[in-house]
This record gives sequence, structure tokens and C-alpha cells, in this order.
Amino acid sequence: MSESLLFSPFTVAGVELANRVVMAPMTRSRASWEGDVGPFAAQYYAQRASAGLIVTEAIGISPQAHGYPYTPGLWSAGQSRGWERVTRAVHERGGRIAAQLWHVGRVFSRDNNPLDLDAVAPSAVAAAGKIFTRAGLQDLPPPRELTTGEVRATVEDFAATAARALDAGFDAVELHGANGYLIEQFLSDDANRRSDTYGGSERKRLTFLAEILDAAADRCGGLDRIGVRISPYGDFNGIRHSDPDRVMRDVVALLAERGIGFLHVIEPEVSGDGSRKTGSAGSAPDVLAIIRESYSGVLIAAGGYDRDRAEAALQGKRADLIAFGRPFISNPDLVARMREGAPLSEWDRRTFYTRGPAGYVDYPDLEGAVDQTHAPPPSQVSSKEATA
Ligand code: PHB
Repeated sequence: MSESLLFSPFTVAGVELANRVVMAPMTRSRASWEGDVGPFAAQYYAQRASAGLIVTEAIGISPQAHGYPYTPGLWSAGQSRGWERVTRAVHERGGRIAAQLWHVGRVFSRDNNPLDLDAVAPSAVAAAGKIFTRAGLQDLPPPRELTTGEVRATVEDFAATAARALDAGFDAVELHGANGYLIEQFLSDDANRRSDTYGGSERKRLTFLAEILDAAADRCGGLDRIGVRISPYGDFNGIRHSDPDRVMRDVVALLAERGIGFLHVIEPEVSGDGSRKTGSAGSAPDVLAIIRESYSGVLIAAGGYDRDRAEAALQGKRADLIAFGRPFISNPDLVARMREGAPLSEWDRRTFYTRGPAGYVDYPDLEGAVDQTHAPPPSQVSSKEATA
């Protein structure tokens, strides 16, 4: 094969990345109940700073956006200070990091929300499916329909949080438009039955995303540092579209027209929680090829890649950057291991969502060392978190 692209630099969002390897966003549930970044987060992300770009776990834009237990937020000054420690630690290691911003909408449980709020959504249509809560697995609740004023306020929450993220030192922001969360709920003719400016036709269902982009551009001085993640043909969290091809094409046309910093695509074979087996999407089309027809900006592909498939995708110009998820959990030095063709460590799924350092910051690098550089002083770690 010609010279590796995977390990060659690339510029996105105006920043130079050391390589084309992206650490995909992954919920790890190590934040406080209230949504403050956990004590080990700076160490966790700094250990993985040799990725060309890290995309964080999903971060709530408001208390209402927060539907999963122990996930972080970025709606308060205190939360922002927590993230500043993370971005500083990653930058000290020469890494780059984008904040993934989400609102869960109807994928929510009151039992997971620090303010005991109720679920909201474009329309009062519950998603089929279950959600993990402190009280065990529960059916997703029937949501309350957002008022038009609340939708506008949510647009502002996205934009304000994007600006807060850049102020906290993030190199870029990724808007979570995938996996059946609020942005995708607005795009769906099943979840969105509104008749105001935010629903009623294909074009009106795009309005929420379009307004978020416009508001973010206003607050952030353009969209160069703003990306969007989508999951065309995905059905995670009970999301359904009667014409998924049209939704994908319309969204991509909007993003191309606005000129976003990057587009991050979860390929249909792996959409959702990554548990879908390759091929089970049946006749799912080649979404990267379709997107390339109308979008010429930076494209990140997430599709269960290994090194060789990633290199081939880059050589074939199918994508500019390749995202890797779970391999990064158990291989903080994934880039070095792939470059050297070294074996990868297996992840332990029992500690994906547990609290504390186990299965989070204790995976060793190839030399058997665990990087402690940004480990928290013991005084910052509660006894529960230290041993969990
Ligand atoms: C999860 O926490 O399970 C989760 C979060 C965001 C996603 C997918 C899954 O996009």
C-alpha cells in the first residue's frame, strides 16, 4: 500500500491533527449525579490524547437535556471549569478535543434527572424501547410536547453551550444529531407531528437543526469549528423515518449549504449502541458514497473500523478521518498500537458504565504502564469513587 494516510496529519476546524484517527464519543457515566465532570476525566482523556481528535462523551446542554445517569453537562460555570481541566490536560499532551453536545429529548427518565424533570420531545409520542435508570431498566416515558417558545429556547441552549465549550478550551464542537436523540426526533415524521414552524413538512422538520446552526454561527463566529454527527438509516432509541434516504439527503444538503466544520457519519451497520452485527442492516445503502455526492467538506466515518479497513477507506477517499470507539476504551495508546501493528487489549464491558477508575483509567499502554500524569489528588476523590 502507498504511504499511510491514517497516521498522517490533517487539518479540521482550523486545527492541525497529528493523524486521522478520531476517538468516537462514548458515554462512560463517571460524572456526578448533577452532571459535573468526574475526577478522573482529565486523566482518561489525556491518556488518549494521541488520537488525532477526541470527541467527548455526550454532554448535556441544559438540565432538561440530561436523561442518563452520571452523564456530564456544560450548562453551568462550575461544569465549564471541570471541562477546562480536561481540555488543558489533552492540550498539554498535544491532543485535540471536541465537545459532543446533546439533548436527549424523549430518550429520558425522570429517575435519571437531577431536577426530577419530565421528558420533553417535538411531540407527545413515546419511543419504543427501554432506558437504564437508577431504579433499573424502564420503558421510555411518554414525553410532553415542547411549546414553540421552548423549542426556541432549546435552540439558544445549543448555541450558548457551543460557545461555552469553545471558551472552555475545546478545539471544536460536535452537535449530536444522531441515534434518535432530540435533533433527530425533530427530523423524524414519526416523532415530530408538529404543525408550527418546526413540523408539518420535510422542510419544516429541518428548521430546528437549521436554527441551531444559525444560532451557533452567530455565537461562535461562524461554523468552522462546529460539526454534526448523524446516523442515516439508524433505528436506535426507537427512531423511525418513513423515508430515511430523503431525510439523509435533506440534512446533508443543509449542512453542505451552511458550510459546517465536519460531518461525522455513523454507518448503518453499526448505528446505535454498536451492537448491531455487520450486515444486519440488510439493504442499507452506501451512505458515505451518497453523502460525498453532495457534501465536499470534512467527513468522519464511524463504522466498526480496524486499521486496514480504515486505511483503505482513506485511500479510497471515502472519508477524511476514521472514528474508533471501544478499542479506545481498552487501548489508550491505540494510535501507537495500530501504527506498530501491535496487538490490541480487549475491553471489559462490565466497567463501561460503572463509576470510579476501574475500567476507565487503569488500562495500560503497550509498555504495561498506566499514565498517571493527570490523575486527581486523593483529596478530590470520594471514597465511593475511588473504590467503585
Ligand atoms: C449511551 O449512553 O448509551 C449512548 C449515548 C449516546 C449515543 C449512543 C448511546 O449516541
